[in-house]
Amino acid sequence: MASGTTATARAAQGAAAELGAAFEAAVAADERIEPRDWMPDAYRAGLVRQIAQHAHSEIIGMQPEANWIARAPSLRRKAILMAKVQDEAGHGLYLYGAAETLGTSRAELLDKLHEGRQKYSSIFNYPTLTWADVGAIGWLVDGAAITNQVPLCRCSYGPYARAMVRICKEESFHQRQGYELLLALSRGTEAQHAMAQDAVDRWWWPSLMMFGPPDAESPHSAQSMAWKIKRHSNDELRQRFVDICVPQAEALGLTLPDPDLRWNEQRGHYDHGAIDWAEFHEVLKGNGPCNEQRLAQRRQAHEEGAWVREAAAAYAAKQQRAAHREEREALAS
Ligand code: 3HC
Repeated sequence: MASGTTATARAAQGAAAELGAAFEAAVAADERIEPRDWMPDAYRAGLVRQIAQHAHSEIIGMQPEANWIARAPSLRRKAILMAKVQDEAGHGLYLYGAAETLGTSRAELLDKLHEGRQKYSSIFNYPTLTWADVGAIGWLVDGAAITNQVPLCRCSYGPYARAMVRICKEESFHQRQGYELLLALSRGTEAQHAMAQDAVDRWWWPSLMMFGPPDAESPHSAQSMAWKIKRHSNDELRQRFVDICVPQAEALGLTLPDPDLRWNEQRGHYDHGAIDWAEFHEVLKGNGPCNEQRLAQRRQAHEEGAWVREAAAAYAAKQQRAAHREEREALAS
């Protein structure tokens, strides 16, 4: 009996090792891991953690900009902003859908967000004080998001990678509308130019924080990169973003609020000043300017949407009953 049990355990261990080797080989060969494939528990958990944080960021990110829909300065600007905010809701849906393929329901993830057990991006805890903030969010926040997210289109997990392709196309439109809005303000009256500069002054540093802590203090980066979930480190992407923004700021006629920003011939990159990581950690702890407001509004929107979820579930159940009835009738005839 004992030797039978040992043999069974050995066979199970052998099978697990084979599955693990097949997974590692697929990642090494740049193949996609799909929902039905075997994957290590930590790979699944790491993906759910990152995708959930990403999805939550998309839907919480609707709030700061929605704040300006009713006050957009023209019908054209209002239509653009409404489309953009709707896009963010759609991005949230694709991402919650990607997380569902890993066996985690949207309801469960939303509960975790509402209970403060899962994070969303630090950037959305800052207020949108003027119309120029809509431009700064488009140019800098969506610009940072694209820099971070284009490499995720090559993420080793298929559903996440495919969701990112569409998201990045839309983010690219978002970035351009922000740039164009800021350009109009920068070339406008003196007061409009000053408003654009003030917005850039406030959003620049928080945008750099979006890329996450420095590599040396990023607990997840090494494993995520080994599994090809992330393709580049936080610092690499942050540097790429700085290098892209400097000439764009010049073209906009705006100044980036960093006296230490200068081209480093040796590195072939722009050096930048020190980031205030104490501020970043405070925001992550819930002490940013708008953390409480953002979560309270999200919880309220969820409660107010309960009737929609109930109605949708009742309608789906009715459709299912009708489909079953048709199937029974077809079988009987
Ligand atoms: N805001 C909030 N939390 C952050 C953060 C930020 N800017 N940067 C890092 N963190 C958190 C991590 O989630 C992690 O928390 P946890 O251990 O409790 O889960 C912790 O800080 C340590 O950070 P790591 O660098 O080790 O974490 P990651 O390897 O996951 O890297 C990341 C962080 C670069 C943000 C990565 O998760 C990522 O690329 N995520 C996908 C993109 C994303 O989530 N973007 C949200 C931005 S906004 C957006 O998409 C909306 C668009 O419309 C603008």
